Amino acid sequence: MSAAVRYYSRSGNTKALAEAIAKGAGVSAVSVDTSDAAIKEPVDVLFIGGALYAYGLDKNLKEYLKTLKKEDAKKAVVFSTSWVSKHSIDLIREGLKEAGIPVEDQAFYARNKPGQKKLAEAERFAKRCLL
Ligand SMILES: Cc1cc2nc3c(=O)[nH]c(=O)nc-3n(C[C@H](O)[C@H](O)[C@H](O)COP(=O)(O)O)c2cc1C
Repeated sequence: MSAAVRYYSRSGNTKALAEAIAKGAGVSAVSVDTSDAAIKEPVDVLFIGGALYAYGLDKNLKEYLKTLKKEDAKKAVVFSTSWVSKHSIDLIREGLKEAGIPVEDQAFYARNKPGQKKLAEAERFAKRCLL
């Protein structure tokens, strides 16, 4: 199955998780504010992640979600970091649903900076999502 990993991270926590997921999926993790972020070829699974800042998503991720189209991915899998609330997962899910992309029920969450154990778990999670 083909995959893409997109994320937005202000201070590196979500980036670390995105890179572990990308390793598991055998692709590169791409930040949504870069010129490579657009999905050029439709993928089977789009892994997409972000964090929560003052109860909301960063505007870079919000804007990116608006650019996604139904044809970009057969399904999406959400990942996130935050301090206490997992609301970022719901917010990303909402954006994907608006784009018409079906979202996997299971998401991957790490509290703030993921440690080695969590990163290894994320890598395995991504592999499982592509079986
Ligand atoms: C300005 C700011 C606001 C935050 N607001 C929240 C919040 O409302 N709820 C929460 O659970 N975590 C909040 N956090 C914690 C971040 O979501 C968490 O540290 C996350 O892992 C940061 O991800 P990043 O390193 O990928 O940017 C906030 C962090 C910052 C810097």
